[in-house]
Amino acid sequence: MKKGLIEKYRKFLPVSDKTPVITLNEGDTPLIKGKVLSELTGGKVLLKFEGTNPTGSFKDRGMCMAISKALEKGAEAVMCASTGNTSASAAAYAARAGIKSIVLIPEGKIARGKLSQALIHGAQVIAIQGNFDDALRMVVEITSRYPIQLVNSINPYRIEGQKTGSFEICDEMGKAPDYHFIPVGNAGNITAYWKGYKEYYSAGIISSLPRMRGYQAEGAAPIVRGKVVPNPETVATAIRIGNPARWKEAETAARESGGKIDMVSDQEILSAYHLLGKEEGIFVEPASAASVAGLLKFNRENPGVLKDKIIVCILTGTGLKDPDRAVKESPVPESVPPTLKILEEKLGLK
Ligand code: F0G
Repeated sequence: MKKGLIEKYRKFLPVSDKTPVITLNEGDTPLIKGKVLSELTGGKVLLKFEGTNPTGSFKDRGMCMAISKALEKGAEAVMCASTGNTSASAAAYAARAGIKSIVLIPEGKIARGKLSQALIHGAQVIAIQGNFDDALRMVVEITSRYPIQLVNSINPYRIEGQKTGSFEICDEMGKAPDYHFIPVGNAGNITAYWKGYKEYYSAGIISSLPRMRGYQAEGAAPIVRGKVVPNPETVATAIRIGNPARWKEAETAARESGGKIDMVSDQEILSAYHLLGKEEGIFVEPASAASVAGLLKFNRENPGVLKDKIIVCILTGTGLKDPDRAVKESPVPESVPPTLKILEEKLGLK
């Protein structure tokens, strides 16, 4: 039975008997074999679908820890900047904990599903006339001046919770994958996964480590370009970030593991988005498809290298987060009168 990741991985997490555990039974997400992707690469591609978490993204792993620890410290309010998913998760877990949440979002640049979540969970939502980086800067300032707990991934408990993604992968396979593909935005998640793998390695649970390959969107690729991007742009609004908070840690993960931080174009992201939907049967949000876009790019540039390898791609959030993108990317449904004959003609049955 699912009991939430704090109970499941208690001995690897900084919690004690005094920590009030706030959980929505997050974690335990499926590792789905990518049929078409395995054929395409010649490897065994496994898709870790984080969209089945309670609020529909991987953020719940980190947020159950961050909110539990905030409550333990006696916090009455939490705050974050967000491209959407962090705010949805913070709002839900804060609601569960009975504390206030304040979220700053870049005006007009957050997907509708995410906004609806923050609103329905009762967060105080403030749209900033700027981007995520502006919002994060303001959250850091406010939380340093007032007794409000910051719950962005600068908060170490977020990383602690999110590292359990690696534990689940290794527990399920009995070993680590050879390659780990993951989208990179604020760079908290790649930091967390790498920490998780290293902890399992140190504990003797796994005997090898994966190569970490992180993917930014071309229009929002500060790490790849080696400089802050003042006006990041991408269809993958979740990773529309020009100055990632965990920049250095992401570089360390790539370097230590023999991997790389690379970038993919919006076109590559959308093409992976459609492939996942149409050929694998998995609906993700555009940012989540960056890992698969990265896999396809890597495979194109290094033919044969992935043959017989075990490859995990993290699919960070459900497609229902961004219904507008799905509709925009698809043909308008045909409209017909309620007449059988016309329907038969449309369906090519006559
Ligand atoms: N995928 C999705 C769906 C995300 O929402 C995010 C980040 C990422 C990937 C990148 O993860 O930041 O740890 O490198 N979303 C944050 C937010 C920024 O505010 O929801 P990261």
